[in-house]
Amino acid sequence: MKIAFIIGTRPEIIKMAPIIDLAQKWQIEHVLIHTGQHYDHEMSQKFFLDLEIEKPHYNIGVGSNSHGKQTAQMIEEIEKVLTHEKPDIVLVQGDTNAVLAGAVAASKLNISVGHVEAGLRSFDRTMPEETNRKIADSCSTMYFVPTEESAINLALEAVDPHEIFVTGNTVVDACLRHLKIAEQKSKLLSDLDVDGDILTLTMHRAENVDDPERLKNILDALVELQDITVVFPVHPRTRKTLENFGYLNKLENTPHIKLTKPIGYLDFLLLLSRSKFVMTDSGGLQEEAITLNIPCITLRYNTERPETVSAGGNILVGSDKDRIIETIQRISGDEELYKKMQDAKNPYGNGNSSENILKEVLKHENEGKFNISSPDNIMKVLNRSLVMIHDDLTVNEFETINPFSRIQLVFQDETILFPHPELSLENKLVLLNKF
Ligand code: UD1
Ligand code: UDP
Repeated sequence: MKIAFIIGTRPEIIKMAPIIDLAQKWQIEHVLIHTGQHYDHEMSQKFFLDLEIEKPHYNIGVGSNSHGKQTAQMIEEIEKVLTHEKPDIVLVQGDTNAVLAGAVAASKLNISVGHVEAGLRSFDRTMPEETNRKIADSCSTMYFVPTEESAINLALEAVDPHEIFVTGNTVVDACLRHLKIAEQKSKLLSDLDVDGDILTLTMHRAENVDDPERLKNILDALVELQDITVVFPVHPRTRKTLENFGYLNKLENTPHIKLTKPIGYLDFLLLLSRSKFVMTDSGGLQEEAITLNIPCITLRYNTERPETVSAGGNILVGSDKDRIIETIQRISGDEELYKKMQDAKNPYGNGNSSENILKEVLKHENEGKFNISSPDNIMKVLNRSLVMIHDDLTVNEFETINPFSRIQLVFQDETILFPHPELSLENKLVLLNKF
């Protein structure tokens, strides 16, 4: 079996690294394709060094461009590589343009697509990432979802539950493993020379940093939060707009705000783990914050990671200046609330996600599911119905007894459940697909 891994940006390198590492250990043949969407040393190569992953076999070098041009070029170049390498499965991760391009290119070549971190939805169509996620999911054949909530999103979109695997998020694998190394190696905190509490800030979402009014509101709030040191590693997109809108000088001259270049993974993890708060519009950081028990304030009006909010570890504040200040002051002044946020249960698993994913990929191979070919049987008309099950049967037992039936979703009182094979169906209502 041969896996093609596609990565393009900083978070994909971080979250794919544990799977690449394991594929190497398990001696699974693979090829690593970097689209080159992120190309600065501190946005790309630094992560290969910090996470100790092999150099990409291909770097498409797409660079920065409009979404259409960048994605089109990636599709064209990835298609060439996949045609030459003939992998059995392509793994893409997350919601960037690389994910969209990789999934589309592979799907059109009838190559299986495994989407790592599938099923996330912000239900905000204006986010480019929402388009990417939805298109990647419609091209995929294996869905590695971090939580039950993401699994239900997909099942509600009529994805076959047998193709959905709740694996946790590989960010937990990366984060837990590398924090230990960071504690030995990183000198960032002594270099930064910070006294007192730290608030780690990152932001790069177009809807915040490219919008002068939202950017101003957020920066005005930060300037007023003088009781805490704000450490702000600046994403290249953000640096550009801070310069263009004339904010860079002011921030550099605000004593409690420390601007840095984007920093490597080890330094960043150590910084995060020693922070009192993280304030961010990043996706990965919302997950890492709850993994490391750091209360998270999210500079967005919605999130595709709602589990972090319902667990109590994350608060959405949008880009409203007063709400940002009020939220930080409220949590700082309420020990009980701060502790509650710290203690929020991490919904993303215990660090075994990469192993869960690769085991499913190997199982798929053993079951001969990588051979995608045009069907040679006449389709049966699909019949969907709601059925109450009274017998003491699991999903697996029910489907074994009724081989032309597939349980799409399970309802218990007002709760929707994902049909895990071992879930008991007794006295539950099911949405049944009959072929
Ligand atoms: C991209 C992803 C976003 C992800 C983020 C992670 C898409 C649509 N966006 O956003 O989902 O959260 O990466 O960080 O795929 N630039 C540099 N050097 C680099 C990379 C970028 O200077 O190495 C600058 C360029 O001016 C570029 C801008 O940053 O135009 C934006 O880069 P781009 O890759 O288009 O989007 P990100 O904002 O990084
Ligand atoms: N990160 C890092 N250095 C930084 C900022 C972030 O190593 O200066 C890491 C962070 O720990 C997380 C990932 O980058 O794992 C998040 O990337 P980003 O915010 O760029 O993308 P998103 O997760 O929003 O797609």
